[in-house]
Amino acid sequence: MDEKSDFEPRILGFLCNWCSYAGADLAGVSRFQYPPNVRIIRVMCSSRVDPMYIVKALTDGIDGVLVAGCHPGDCHYIEGNYRARRRMVALDQILERYGLKDRVFLEWVSASEGKRFAEVITHVTEEIKKLGPNPHKKKWEI
Ligand code: FES
Repeated sequence: MDEKSDFEPRILGFLCNWCSYAGADLAGVSRFQYPPNVRIIRVMCSSRVDPMYIVKALTDGIDGVLVAGCHPGDCHYIEGNYRARRRMVALDQILERYGLKDRVFLEWVSASEGKRFAEVITHVTEEIKKLGPNPHKKKWEI
């Protein structure tokens, strides 16, 4: 078997407390199936995710990162998700230079979207599987 077919990515998911984390909870309560590849970190808002957290996760060898927050206009802190989106656009330019841009996802999932949460996790996992392991993993791992 080749490396990609066996590959089970390690994905880090930053979920905002008010929408996406509640969406994840609803997915669990509703028993929607999704791949078990994502490790979740709950943050109070998507804007709380410092881009350096993402860079650090990738340089530490994580295969993909998901940031999920409330839909635009629904942020509990009014405009936090707009700030998150602007930061992600800026971060994309840096990640592109290292071939890591496609490993980072920003998605909006509300508290009532358990099914969507499961679909987002499935989509992100499939996309990372297509990319294969983080190419910088071995280089950066000591
Ligand atoms: Fe959810 Fe700001 S509180 S994105």
